[in-house]
Amino acid sequence: MEPAIFFTVLLYLFSLSHGTAPALATSATTTQQQQRTLPLGGHRPAVAGIAGSKKYEGSSDLVHLRYHMGPVLSSPISINLIWYGRWPLAHQAVIRDFLHSISDASAPSPSVHQWWSTVALYTDQTGANITRSISIAREVYDPLCSRGTALTRLSIQQVIADAVAAHHLPVDHRNGVYLVLTARDVTVQDFCRAVCGFHYFTFPSIVGHTLPYAWVGNSGRQCPDVCAYPFAVPSYMAGTAAMSPPNGDAGVDGMVSVIGHELAELSSNPLVNAWYAGEDPTAPTEIGDLCEGVYGTGGGGGYTGQVSSDGGGRKYNVNGKGGRRFLLQWLWSPVLKACAGPNAVN
Ligand SMILES: *[C@@H]1O[C@H](CO)[C@@H](O)[C@H](O)[C@H]1NC(C)=O
Repeated sequence: MEPAIFFTVLLYLFSLSHGTAPALATSATTTQQQQRTLPLGGHRPAVAGIAGSKKYEGSSDLVHLRYHMGPVLSSPISINLIWYGRWPLAHQAVIRDFLHSISDASAPSPSVHQWWSTVALYTDQTGANITRSISIAREVYDPLCSRGTALTRLSIQQVIADAVAAHHLPVDHRNGVYLVLTARDVTVQDFCRAVCGFHYFTFPSIVGHTLPYAWVGNSGRQCPDVCAYPFAVPSYMAGTAAMSPPNGDAGVDGMVSVIGHELAELSSNPLVNAWYAGEDPTAPTEIGDLCEGVYGTGGGGGYTGQVSSDGGGRKYNVNGKGGRRFLLQWLWSPVLKACAGPNAVN
């Protein structure tokens, strides 16, 4: 839920996290967070148990993702988007096309739609699955940054509160999800140091309602090597070449994967009492956290796994609406008990 990247020496911690840089070799350390993370071992290579197949990455009997009895987002999701700061139209189009691709069954395999099918495997105690229907309800623009260019976690809720109070966005308790996207010159508390995005729910004292929301920032200028990996790579990964982004912009293409990660977690753990691993609900390890840095077969330990290249050498692993392509991180499957994605190679 609180995607954060803690990295000490060569270790990315997944517990809070949500960075997109890969897990590297873990060395024994003793802090509480690191201990909680060690069982994940940074996306171990596939366990050869699943019919000897290497199709699924990160398999581990040590991951105890559990259901904590709360709701999942089983009703169709209506996303209310807030574009905070200056957003070029071409960049908006990439993100909008990604969001529209989730419910679009017409794109060729492997598709964004198929990628979401892993999320749809999660159910709540009534047996209801997470929805496969995601649409954009309303969009609002705040190009002049009405709450400033340095946001905190709580001021992000204030941005949502302003949009709701002005009736620019509806209060939608049944289907509404609120997504705040900050432009590349907007700083956010913990952005780049601990998080690339996060999800939570709003507080009645600020917004007047409890509504699930997420924030994702454009890291293109501030820290692409942290939050737009693998389109930029950290200096400690000398020798690993940055990949060419599928839509031509590392910041925006990196955001797409982080938005996917956050939506998957928001849907499976909207009130932070449904699906997560770990004992501590203030630092849950969620279905995206478990597969950070894994984009294809063989991924893990600093290797993205097998992905595709288009004619121009741009990397992607899924197809979307209107011929768009995206590189999305894999997600933890409750059925396979491993990271899974539609571009898996048998
Ligand atoms: C709902 O979840 C169950 C349990 O994971 C799964 O078997 C079923 O295929 C899911 N249904 C859909 C439509 O994804």
